[in-house]
Amino acid sequence: MNVKETIENREEITRRFFLGWGSATIIGMASLAASLLTMLRMPIPSLMPGKAARFKIGNKEDFPPGTTKYFEMEQVYVFADQKGISAMSAICTHLGCIVSKEQKQFVCPCHGSRYDLTGRVMQGPAPKNLSWYSVVMLPSAKLVVDRNKVVQPGTKLLV
Ligand code: FES
Repeated sequence: MNVKETIENREEITRRFFLGWGSATIIGMASLAASLLTMLRMPIPSLMPGKAARFKIGNKEDFPPGTTKYFEMEQVYVFADQKGISAMSAICTHLGCIVSKEQKQFVCPCHGSRYDLTGRVMQGPAPKNLSWYSVVMLPSAKLVVDRNKVVQPGTKLLV
């Protein structure tokens, strides 16, 4: 091996070394970016501290029969029919994502749990049914949902 061959070998090693590390760095950065994008696109569980246990939802006139309203801040659905007004949690009992109403069921976007219109689990992994909350009317005629008081599914404030 002469001097010229040795220098060429060194250049080849350096180029290989550089290309190897460069490729590894690019692949690593791409993997990191893909992971971060995946995390950002995941539905966000709704376990937020500090939500009021009791909150006003309006007057009974705001809920004509057949109404379904979603209170986003409180993550509660309120329903009204001919008999009265009721409230059900929108928080999935699996890991706390928000269920959305689709046709005749509630569906969790995170892991696919499905609940019927009474909040009963039809498909897991949700371990429990959705909770229903007491609805009361204040002397001022304002309606209040009280999440401290869990009631039987479908329990209504008679109006
Ligand atoms: S959080 Fe709803 S199914 Fe997992």
